[in-house]
Amino acid sequence: MSNKKELIISKIRDGIVIDHIPAGRALLVLRILGITGREGFRVALVMNVESHKLGVKDIVKVEGRELTRDELNLVALVAPTATVNIIRNYDVVSKFKVVVPDVIEGLIKCKNPRCITNQQREPVKSRFRVVSREPLKLVCDYCGTIHELSDIERSLGIA
Ligand code: CTP
Ligand code: ZN
Repeated sequence: MSNKKELIISKIRDGIVIDHIPAGRALLVLRILGITGREGFRVALVMNVESHKLGVKDIVKVEGRELTRDELNLVALVAPTATVNIIRNYDVVSKFKVVVPDVIEGLIKCKNPRCITNQQREPVKSRFRVVSREPLKLVCDYCGTIHELSDIERSLGIA
């Protein structure tokens, strides 16, 4: 925010800043991006800072990294309020809000072990319909099982 008294963490030179993440979800965003800290990129994480829009928010900054469409879709699911800023030579060259997709394909596993998408013999790509954004609710297109944020956290190995 422009009126803040001091910067909590320094600006980055080239990379992405994912801002306005609901408080408590920064680690989930890192997990979606597959960032462990062992890649050698400079990563900054801010949790529970004041935000005019959200009350409190998290921020994730990653140097030298872009976002794929799949990553953006997953980030949108867990952080529907997020803003993505693309940084080049210290300037914000692009800023956009994430868009929660209506359908999410091939990115998360259905938690129903008997779902056709979990059968070894005839692998079928998972497909979910987003029926609610906040709180998040996804329905498996094949077996109808409802998935919530905690199921996605589990599917991504964070819970
Ligand atoms: N940022 C950064 N490094 C830069 C430029 C920006 O880390 N070289 C971060 C800022 O700290 C901020 C976000 O990217 O968290 C967006 O920057 P900016 O658009 O300048 O800030 P705001 O106007 O506060 O953004 P918004 O209106 O989206 O809240
Ligand atoms: Zn299913």
